Amino acid sequence: MTQLRAFIEGMPKAELHLHIEGSLEPELMFSLAQKNNISLPFKTVEEVRDAYQFSDLQDFLDIYYQGMGVLQTEQDFYDLTWAYLTKIHSQNVIHTEIFFDPQGHTDRGISFDTVINGIHRALVDGSEKLGISSYLIMCFLRHLDESAALETLEQALPYKDKIKGVGLDSSELGHPPSKFAHVFARAKQEGFLAVAHAGEEGPPEYVFEALDILKIDRLDHGNRSLENDTLTQRLASTKMALTVCPLSNYKLAGVTDMRQHPLREMLDKNLNATINSDDPAYFGGYMNENYFAVAEALDLSKDDLITLARNGFNATFCNLQEKAALQSRLDDYLKQ
Ligand code: ADE
Ligand code: ZN
Repeated sequence: MTQLRAFIEGMPKAELHLHIEGSLEPELMFSLAQKNNISLPFKTVEEVRDAYQFSDLQDFLDIYYQGMGVLQTEQDFYDLTWAYLTKIHSQNVIHTEIFFDPQGHTDRGISFDTVINGIHRALVDGSEKLGISSYLIMCFLRHLDESAALETLEQALPYKDKIKGVGLDSSELGHPPSKFAHVFARAKQEGFLAVAHAGEEGPPEYVFEALDILKIDRLDHGNRSLENDTLTQRLASTKMALTVCPLSNYKLAGVTDMRQHPLREMLDKNLNATINSDDPAYFGGYMNENYFAVAEALDLSKDDLITLARNGFNATFCNLQEKAALQSRLDDYLKQ
């Protein structure tokens, strides 16, 4: 396993499912709280980490929305994003597609402009100083209504050049993709690509809706798709990419034993699965730790790991030439 770990660490990778607000480490949360005069319900970093035990998605989301309250200024969003980029750089992630939740900030009085300018400036530095290419994906909070999502889309239009796609996240159960049919249609008209969290806690019907109504270009999680054979076959035959997040599934109790993680079945059924971290500061690991977890629990081979990394590059929103350049970084690594 030590050998396989070293192989994973050195392997060039792409991350396609990462909520930037979910990369807020307790240390940065504390320093921003102090700087911005915000009181936290925790006394120490250890207390925060101890509080990160979740029974389900909603239990996590309550703490996640509270945590992001320390983000106030453009520099805060820059620092958050920069910390994530330097971390993944140390893990040989060479391309990342980052979610952000504008409504989690605008609803508490932070301007859209503050959020996007801070994140974007860090991404430019990430490209120039770390060689990490990236795209931004703006997510709509599905527990809010569609009119709020439409307003958010309007706010985003002046920043269209900085945003590659739209996504759908937050509390899944009771908030099916069909609730957001109009806003996704509008976003597609404007030229945005589309993704959606579906089948994380929700039933296969939600995945069908994400495909047929939202016309998604990539599926976030998708675990529960396996409960429906027709859906599973459709995902395989259309090569729909799934952004799987192993440690997240474990921490949110979707998977109680990593040895039972559905990734094995996904690979066996020819699903286009990729490995991602979701909210690494809350779930106990970035990209490499997610790879380690499934490699160990599911006894993955080196070839399985290479397939997962290749799937990741292929599933990016890059053009064919850029994808080929990413794949060739992996080829070079394998030749060493
Ligand atoms: N927002 C942040 N992380 C999320 C997740 N895993 N599912 C849904 N919404 C989220
Ligand atoms: Zn997510």
